[in-house]
Amino acid sequence: MADLSTNFLGIKSPNPFWLASAPPTDKAYNVERAFEAGWGGVVWKTLGEAGPPVVNVNGPRYGAIWGPDRRLLGLNNIELITDRDLEINLREIAEVKRRWPDRAMIVSIMVPCEEQSWKAILPRVEATGADGIELNFGCPHGMSERGMGAAVGQVPEYIQMVAEWCKHYSSMPVIVKLTPNITDIRYPARAAKAGGADAVSLINTISSIVSVDLDNFAPVPTIDGKGSHGGYCGPAVKPIALNMVAEIARDAETRGLPISGIGGIQTWRDAAEYIALGCGTVQVCTAAMTYGFKIVEEMTQGLSDWMDEKGYATLADFQGRAVPNVTDWQYLNLNYITKARIDQDLCIKCGRCHIACEDTSHQAITAMVDGVRHFEVMDDECVGCNLCVNVCPVDDCITMIEMTEGSDPRTGRPIDHDYANWTTHPNNPMAKQAAE
Ligand SMILES: Cc1cc2nc3c(=O)[nH]c(=O)nc-3n(C[C@H](O)[C@H](O)[C@H](O)COP(=O)(O)O)c2cc1C
Ligand code: SF4
Ligand code: SF4
Repeated sequence: MADLSTNFLGIKSPNPFWLASAPPTDKAYNVERAFEAGWGGVVWKTLGEAGPPVVNVNGPRYGAIWGPDRRLLGLNNIELITDRDLEINLREIAEVKRRWPDRAMIVSIMVPCEEQSWKAILPRVEATGADGIELNFGCPHGMSERGMGAAVGQVPEYIQMVAEWCKHYSSMPVIVKLTPNITDIRYPARAAKAGGADAVSLINTISSIVSVDLDNFAPVPTIDGKGSHGGYCGPAVKPIALNMVAEIARDAETRGLPISGIGGIQTWRDAAEYIALGCGTVQVCTAAMTYGFKIVEEMTQGLSDWMDEKGYATLADFQGRAVPNVTDWQYLNLNYITKARIDQDLCIKCGRCHIACEDTSHQAITAMVDGVRHFEVMDDECVGCNLCVNVCPVDDCITMIEMTEGSDPRTGRPIDHDYANWTTHPNNPMAKQAAE
């Protein structure tokens, strides 16, 4: 059986699955039950500074979008950081860590962007015996209006400054949690590294209005007739998060910086994808909130089974393996030619591929042959875009086949086995310059 254990910044956990800082990690009761269920670690719900705790709304905090089967695809929230007393949280963190020494205990912190505030809280967190801290520079709502959360994460200089304070006033490993509400994620990641952070985690939630109630004309969730933007998470955000993780993993300045991947992780496969893009651990929030703590059993079992099947003994055997294969569009091989193929035995003749290709792609799929419904790809029109694969309701009914010999019936050009990309293509006005 594969070894799922991780050592992230010297913090050990029996598996890479950590619960992200959020309601599932808000109190000892939750965290202990999560550990019993098998979670490898947690990032405790974000702590604020000493004094009166923050105040949440007393109405709905969530909005959502669902698939046609009512499965939750995206979740929007307007919750703030913990609204529990700091003393109680610190006491519980210490107790839980003592009782579960083999699990990772990371404490998320968000205090004002002033040295004194960080200096005050860091020794108190360190005294709990926690394994590390995560700096919440990500929440896009509520706290950002007070100059914290995403308001810090959107200014690389602030990130660097606070990371430096944390390294100065504590000896715990520092993870900077990044906001995705920024144009180029590489800048905050570089700033975190420059500030001495040991790792980054991403993504926090995406600024969003999930829907508008058309009876009272207000955003959802609606509090007494009004709504505000919230933070979006769940399966819908995974593609955005994966791209940001990949950008950091392959950036010359941050390559090798440990990453804890977050965003839409719901299955072992999602986790494996993040690890393949270089992540050392992964964090989960929405999936646990939707399906409960026991979902980790399927995650660990599934990952372990897949690793056994592939012959990977440890996570290191495939961690980062996808990073070299992430490139820029201009380097994709323009001589790689594919055509769609429809398996006539699997086809249920719904016609969706034909409509999609006919109306919005390249008119390359038949609808009728000899007066009978028949869906077949015409190679002399097919550009290999794979839209049909994505709209077909039957798994593996349409596949993309690489042409390896002869010539492309669409262009008449012989198949060229050499790699050639846009940088040298004759249609590229910059090609000559690029080649020089
Ligand atoms: C209700 C709710 C509260 C959250 N609170 C926090 C928080 O206090 N601190 C934090 O760093 N992230 C917070 N998050 C963000 C999550 O930790 C995580 O980054 C995000 O939900 C993406 O992961 P997911 O797609 O698995 O949910 C919260 C998310 C939700 C849904
Ligand atoms: S791959 Fe694109 S062009 Fe070819 S048949 Fe499918 S939708 Fe049409
Ligand atoms: S979408 Fe798929 S199942 Fe439907 S007609 Fe096309 S190939 Fe057949």
